[in-house]
Amino acid sequence: METLKKQINDANSLTELEKVRIDLFGKKGTLSKEFAKLKDVPGPEKKAFAEGLNKNKAILQTEFDARYEKLKKEEIENLLKAEAIDVSLYGNLDEKGAYHPVMATMDKIIDYFVALNFAIEDGPKIEDDFHNFEALNLPKNHPARDMQDTFFFKDGAVLRTHTSPVQIRTMLSQKPPIRMIAPGAVFRKDYDITHTPMFHQVEGLVVDAKGEISFANLKAIMSDFLHYMFGEVEVRFRPSFFPFTEPSSEVDISCIFCEGEGCRVCSHTGWLEVLGCGIVDSNVFDAVEYKDVSGYAFGLGVERFAMLLHKVPDLRMLFEGDTRLLEQFR
Ligand code: PHE
Repeated sequence: METLKKQINDANSLTELEKVRIDLFGKKGTLSKEFAKLKDVPGPEKKAFAEGLNKNKAILQTEFDARYEKLKKEEIENLLKAEAIDVSLYGNLDEKGAYHPVMATMDKIIDYFVALNFAIEDGPKIEDDFHNFEALNLPKNHPARDMQDTFFFKDGAVLRTHTSPVQIRTMLSQKPPIRMIAPGAVFRKDYDITHTPMFHQVEGLVVDAKGEISFANLKAIMSDFLHYMFGEVEVRFRPSFFPFTEPSSEVDISCIFCEGEGCRVCSHTGWLEVLGCGIVDSNVFDAVEYKDVSGYAFGLGVERFAMLLHKVPDLRMLFEGDTRLLEQFR
């Protein structure tokens, strides 16, 4: 008996104790073997033998239960100790959030135009054909619609492909003069290192009496804006085409990576294209029934600016939410 008791009390963990339980109380355990001997005990002694066995079994069971309770309690205490959280300790202060580089760039752009008294206008992201295309001199079946990689809804509505529909909405609801920017998300079916299906643009529109607005005004303000954004860079206006402006221009800055020498980022041209602009086409003014006015408009991609400002190699990284990128903008 004493060795059996010792066996129980020597178990130092619940796993060890479980082994002891099987050894003692299991089907092939010590006690079972003792009880098996009962059949060989002569009749008159059977009762006493059985009583003895049951008494011993009860003693061992009590011993076992006590040991079990003790070990169980110890195990819980150890677990609590191991999992304890010291709430008085400082947390990881490095895990602070950061303003997203795209939004920071957007704010920087907005600040420039707000300082020049441009109003901020807004419009719906789900647009109709009239505002996104038709009124912008993009009639149905016009090949220039292909440039836009549009997401269509079944009913003919679209996810706006640019912020230019906000120009139309603003002119339809306000009288000239107009001096506005429209920052916001736009959508195109496109996905590669310089395109994501959702990105942000800032649109600009200035309208005043006929003869008041010239290409020189547009050129001056775009040059100044680009110097504000990128510092000492060369600015170049290249003839281009947009259905809603005539004449139209794409604007380049000298490559900020190689300073115009030619590198991979600028495709060895020394120039980086950063925005589109032009003199508002008279067809656009006709669509909103504006008479005797002149104006200029421009549009730019915010992610492209952010990418250039912070030298982000793949535009898609801006939307992956990887904290290793984001934590650099704290
Ligand atoms: N809406 C044009 C685009 O998304 C940009 C633009 C705006 C060009 C205004 C000229 C004038 O590509």
